Amino acid sequence: MNIDLTGKVVLVTGATRGIGKAIAEALDKAGATVAAHGNTGIEEAGSWVANARNTRLFKADLTDNAAIEKLYENVKESFGQLDVLINNAGISIDSPLEKSSDEWTADWDRTLQVNLNAPALLCKLAINDFTERESGIIINVASRAAFRGDTVDYMAYAASKGGLVALTRSIARGMGKKGITAFTLAPGFTHTDMAEQFIDQYGEEYVASDIALRELTRPEDIAPFIVFLCSGMAAHATGGTFDFNAGSYVH
Ligand SMILES: NC(=O)c1ccc[n+]([C@@H]2O[C@H](COP(=O)([O-])OP(=O)(O)OC[C@H]3O[C@@H](n4cnc5c(N)ncnc54)[C@H](O)[C@@H]3O)[C@@H](O)[C@H]2O)c1
Repeated sequence: MNIDLTGKVVLVTGATRGIGKAIAEALDKAGATVAAHGNTGIEEAGSWVANARNTRLFKADLTDNAAIEKLYENVKESFGQLDVLINNAGISIDSPLEKSSDEWTADWDRTLQVNLNAPALLCKLAINDFTERESGIIINVASRAAFRGDTVDYMAYAASKGGLVALTRSIARGMGKKGITAFTLAPGFTHTDMAEQFIDQYGEEYVASDIALRELTRPEDIAPFIVFLCSGMAAHATGGTFDFNAGSYVH
């Protein structure tokens, strides 16, 4: 199936590398106009964006709510509309219980801010905007960890992603009559820079033995599915969670 997203404007957060970059590139190839968001590392993204058809970079720190509002405004000003919001940016901080309560709480707060509060604010802005147009798609990138849990060092990460799932389901149930659909993507271990940190800690063998397939998931294995969701053809699956975990957690 050839999907043509010409005329659709999509904001992808955390598109400078990893899963977000693969999503942005695939959307661009499918004809969409892409607002590729980043913060640190945005300069490195310049090289692939230069080769893209219709992608522009937008910088904002997701720990700063004013910057998040500005990001949404800037995208609207630049392209005149937004059709799809993809909350992909995320962090996972190794936060062992041996840390002091202050340090542990700072890790918790930062994780919740980037992984849950920032996407929630972007969802709020998008819902108000999409309601006026009676149309819009929201895709939130959660994690397998929302369902099967994570290691104790990454409890904040799992909790933030669990919140994101509940947020997405609420949008789907509450906003469908206004033409807004919402989906959760739940990747398992995916070979990105974020995952390197986990490999360093637990070893590649541990990660590989966890999955049912022969190869670890790459960002490119996920991106085509997002193109499909952006097409609007999956509207009746609104509220759904789509697992991309190579069979490591089936529920
Ligand atoms: N890689 C995995 O194994 C895996 C597994 C499950 C879920 N996920 C989720 O998929 C998404 C993408 O993961 P990835 O592996 O590509 O991550 P990554 O670390 O490679 O990229 C994360 C992106 O988020 C951006 N970001 C982080 N903090 C930010 C901040 N304060 N302000 C603005 N941008 C910020 C980074 O700049 C980067 O572009 C994340 O939400 C992650 O939780 C990843």
